[in-house]
Amino acid sequence: MKFSVALLAVLAVSSSLSAAVSVKRSDFGKMPDGQAVSLFTVTNAKGMEARIITYGGVVVSLKTPDRKGALADVVLGHDDLAGYMADGGTYFGALIGRYANRIGKAQFTLDGKTYKLPVNNGPNSLHGGNEGFDKRNWAGREVPGGVELSLFSKDGDEGYPGNLKVVVTYTLTEDNRLHIHYTATTDKPTVVNMSNHSYWNLKGDGDILGHVLTINADKYSPVDAGLIPLGEPQPVAGTPFDFRKPTTPGARINQANDQLKLGKGYDHNWVLNRTGTGLEMAARLEEPTSGRVLEVYTDQPAVQFYTGNFLDGSVKGKGGKPMNQRTALCLETQHSPDSPNKPTYPSTVLRPGSVYDTTTEFRFSVK
Ligand code: BGC
Repeated sequence: MKFSVALLAVLAVSSSLSAAVSVKRSDFGKMPDGQAVSLFTVTNAKGMEARIITYGGVVVSLKTPDRKGALADVVLGHDDLAGYMADGGTYFGALIGRYANRIGKAQFTLDGKTYKLPVNNGPNSLHGGNEGFDKRNWAGREVPGGVELSLFSKDGDEGYPGNLKVVVTYTLTEDNRLHIHYTATTDKPTVVNMSNHSYWNLKGDGDILGHVLTINADKYSPVDAGLIPLGEPQPVAGTPFDFRKPTTPGARINQANDQLKLGKGYDHNWVLNRTGTGLEMAARLEEPTSGRVLEVYTDQPAVQFYTGNFLDGSVKGKGGKPMNQRTALCLETQHSPDSPNKPTYPSTVLRPGSVYDTTTEFRFSVK
C-alpha cells in the first residue's frame, strides 16, 4: 500500500513536470494586407523560452541558461514584424521552403518536365524563391509543449509543381531541446527540402569566431562561385573544412576564403556521417565563456554551416544593433544544394502518397 502511494506521488510529479511547458499566444502585429500575425511564447520549468511567430515560422528569440543559470537570447532577429517584413535577405530564424539552399540555374527536371524557378541569387534560385515559406503567414495553433504551423503552397507556387500541404511543429522539452518536426504531402511529384534558418550566438553578444564547433562529417561539397556544388562531395581531411575535432570557426576562416576565392568565410554544405535513419548528431557548438552548448541532431543527410558572410551592418537587429559578418552562425540541416540536378545525391523528390517527414532538434546544455 505504502509503495503504491509512493508510486502515485512519483507519477504525479512527473506528469506535472511534463505539463510544465507553457504555451501562450499573443498578437505580433498585422501585415500590410491586414493578416494578423501571432506570437507563441513557449517556456519550460527551467526557464528556457522560445518565441515563435506565424510569419515565416520565425524563431524570434530563444533564451537559454549559461553555466550560472543566467538566460541570454541566443538567436538573431528583429524587434517587430515590420523589421522581419523589411528584411529581404537574412532569413533570420525562419522556416525555409520549398527548397532550402540553392537550385542551380534556377531550374530542375522531374519526370521529363523542366520547371523554372525564380532567379534570386546570381543565376540560381535560393531558399524557395522570392516569396518562400519564410515570407508567408502560417496558420498557427497551440499544441502540448509548443506550436503547430500549417501552410498550403499551391501548385505552381514559386515555380514548384504540386499542391503542397506543410505542417511544422515546434516543441520545447523539459530538458531544453527545441524539437522541430516537418511534414508535407503533395498531389503531384515535386521536390521538398526544408530547414530552419536560425543564426546562433551562444554568448548572446559579440562575434562567433571563438565558439568551438564540431561537425560530424568526413566530407563537404566544394562549390563554384555561385555556391553550387561542383560534383561529388570531397574529404574534409587536410582542409579548413575539417571540423571533426572541436575547432573555432575563426582558426581557419581565412584559409577557407583563400581556397575557394570567395573572400567571405564559411558558406558550405557538409555531408553528415550517418549510421541509420533516426536522429544523429550533426554538429556541436560550445561557447567557452558562458558554457552554453548547442547540439544539433537531425535525420537529414547534410548541414549548411554559414558564418553570416553577407551581413554587412546594413541590417539592424534587435535593439537597432547593426548585424555584422561574424555576429552569428547558422547550422541549417537539409539535403545538399542542387540535389534536384544531382542524380547521385540523396533524392529530394516527394511523390503523391508519400510523406515528407523529418525532424531536427536543437539540444541545449552547459559545460
Ligand atoms: C546561404 C547563404 C545566404 C544565407 C542567407 C544561407 O543558407 O547559404 O549563402 O546568404 O543563407 O540568405
